[in-house]
Amino acid sequence: MLSPSYQVAVLPEDSRAAVRNNAGGHVNHTIFWTLMKPNGGGAPTGAIADAIKGSFGDFDKFKAAFEDAGLKRFGSGWVWLSVKKGKMELASYPYQDTPILDGGFPILGNDVWEHAYYLKYQNKRVDYLKAWWNVVNWDEVNNRLKMARS
Ligand SMILES: [Fe+2]
Repeated sequence: MLSPSYQVAVLPEDSRAAVRNNAGGHVNHTIFWTLMKPNGGGAPTGAIADAIKGSFGDFDKFKAAFEDAGLKRFGSGWVWLSVKKGKMELASYPYQDTPILDGGFPILGNDVWEHAYYLKYQNKRVDYLKAWWNVVNWDEVNNRLKMARS
């Protein structure tokens, strides 16, 4: 199967940006909605807890790195934890780009477009990033980790 980035590259040049932006926005948000639930949050459990500990040391260090990546994304974009070639990868992406473009399998991500937080947090992206942990659906993150590894 062709990689998604190659598939975008074979499109006619005048439609590449539109497909990349709209398909990326669709896939990013479709995953994002499943990663949250009311009364979520708390510490991760199961395989994702072990994976975070193995790759980042502990949950607090992971949270700090995730928030830092989200905070440093200039302008609009996303921060994603993904599995790429069997390893955990934390990175931010501009606009509606997705780890899928680079062969990653996204398992946990946050929308850092201003539209995601300005009504409640105005320009305080860091407050939004910190509060977001309270709605994370760790069961779904574990589901996605299982899919990434199968
Ligand atoms: Fe969004």
